Amino acid sequence: MNKVLIFEKIKSKFEIKKKSKKYFTDIEKIEKSYFKNFWSYNQILSHFISSNSHNLYIKLGDKIISYCLCIANDEFIEILKIVTIQNHRGRGFAISLLDKVEEFGINNSLKRVCLEVDETNNSAINLYKKKGFRIDGLRKKYYRNSNTNAVLMSKNI
Ligand SMILES: CC(C)(COP(=O)(O)OP(=O)(O)OC[C@H]1O[C@@H](n2cnc3c(N)ncnc32)[C@H](O)[C@@H]1OP(=O)(O)O)[C@@H](O)C(=O)NCCC(=O)NCCS
Repeated sequence: MNKVLIFEKIKSKFEIKKKSKKYFTDIEKIEKSYFKNFWSYNQILSHFISSNSHNLYIKLGDKIISYCLCIANDEFIEILKIVTIQNHRGRGFAISLLDKVEEFGINNSLKRVCLEVDETNNSAINLYKKKGFRIDGLRKKYYRNSNTNAVLMSKNI
């Protein structure tokens, strides 16, 4: 099967109207499969509409297989979600998305990329360390479902 990887950014409400339903439904399904604190369709929609959101996804054919949802301000960009669906993991998709987030930050004169991650999420922590993120601190018992700590990480760019 030919893989077609496309990086796209939805910039305007106009674009959202054209493409959104299918993509938001894909993201909603993935959210429900992989996160206890998953975003609903309406949360995904309002995030995409927000003027300071920056969102990237990778499609295989017409299906989203990996995405990264971020929010930016004048100083930094924060990664809120990053996911690759199970049967496409370990192929460098998340690394590619992080490269693109970093590129966006550099192009927009931002100083840092930051995020928080559950301390038990070893694959994500490895991913961020591989990309040069450092641990800034902990938020104790941050995740209510599991009572686990959040690790705060960032990378200067
Ligand atoms: C974390 C996640 C996004 C990684 O996606 P991916 O596309 O498989 O990642 P990549 O193929 O780009 O992997 C890059 C690096 O991440 C780390 N990594 C990824 N999966 C790993 C695993 N199962 N165990 C240990 N390290 C892992 C490794 O350092 C890897 O580099 P390597 O292949 O040279 O060892 C994916 O596992 C996922 O979607 N998890 C569920 C959602 C989640 O927890 N998201 C993060 C919190 S919001």
